[in-house]
Amino acid sequence: MRNVNCVGILTSGGDSPGMNAAIRSVTRSAIYNGLRVKGIYRGYRGLITGEIKEFRSENVSNIIQLGGTILKTARSEDFMSPEGRKKAYDNIKKEGIDALVVIGGDGSLNGATQFAREYDISCIGIPSTIDNDLYGTDSTIGYDTALNTILDAVDKIRDTATSHERLFFIEVMGRDAGFLALNGAIASGAEAAIIPEISTEVDQLAEFIQSGFRKSKSSSIVLVAESELTGGAMHYAERVKNEYPQYDVRVTILGHIQRGGSPTAFDRILASRFGSAAIESLLEGQRNIMIGIENDEIVYVPLTRATKIQKRVPQDLIDLMKQLSV
Ligand code: F6P
Repeated sequence: MRNVNCVGILTSGGDSPGMNAAIRSVTRSAIYNGLRVKGIYRGYRGLITGEIKEFRSENVSNIIQLGGTILKTARSEDFMSPEGRKKAYDNIKKEGIDALVVIGGDGSLNGATQFAREYDISCIGIPSTIDNDLYGTDSTIGYDTALNTILDAVDKIRDTATSHERLFFIEVMGRDAGFLALNGAIASGAEAAIIPEISTEVDQLAEFIQSGFRKSKSSSIVLVAESELTGGAMHYAERVKNEYPQYDVRVTILGHIQRGGSPTAFDRILASRFGSAAIESLLEGQRNIMIGIENDEIVYVPLTRATKIQKRVPQDLIDLMKQLSV
């Protein structure tokens, strides 16, 4: 058992819906267990500049339904340097913080891994990114909300696609992971998903589109994951425009609309479970782990594994997509 008295909490990297629910849960679970909590503003940047404030239960009132993060967030260049991390550690000592809960995605948890390797501080990661690309957890906070935002948008775009008999390429986020595009396509009934995990030749795609039209489909929707590996939606639209000018092609890039909005019930509950588990893990003496969920059970994953191992898009979902688009 390790003696933890004061927990620092920060959000870092891209915001995702449900981060506030996680902040609330970490804060209240800590207070419930007799610990002090300090909110660190603007992620690692605020740790370096000392933007730190004592949190009480009322600091996290009325936030569970809010998207974004009340702690603000940033992608800190300074924290990537040893000097930056030294300043961060000095502030941690000055504030009497003896454990850090980092709510964020891949880059943020990489930062925590590095920090924990260099300094005597327990870091607990809470996976929070719409990309769902962290190994060791079935879901990350914000992914479900972003998926639902995508569905809402695709359902609306389908009205135009059908009325005008058009082919739409809709680009979704995910950095280099295809979870949003693949599951967004399955859930919205799209005709195809182009994801970085599968190399899709444009000719194969065009063949598929043609066969779709041949089967008298009057419109088609293709979800494209943003990524250098796919080339993005514009790339495919240009190719089809040049090679199959008979099709009326349009592109919609959903962009940051996917990162905002009130979190779904799923994300609020996930964030609440993760926040509480983060405090429980600290009380058990755990160090340098990420909280995850597998088969509806909370799991602890070493930070080094969570950030180093690539999470794979399940093959059965790729197969399912193929089946459903005949
Ligand atoms: O990691 C979340 C994410 O939204 C990615 O899907 C996307 O590639 C990136 O962040 C966009 O980052 P920014 O908001 O800094 O442009």
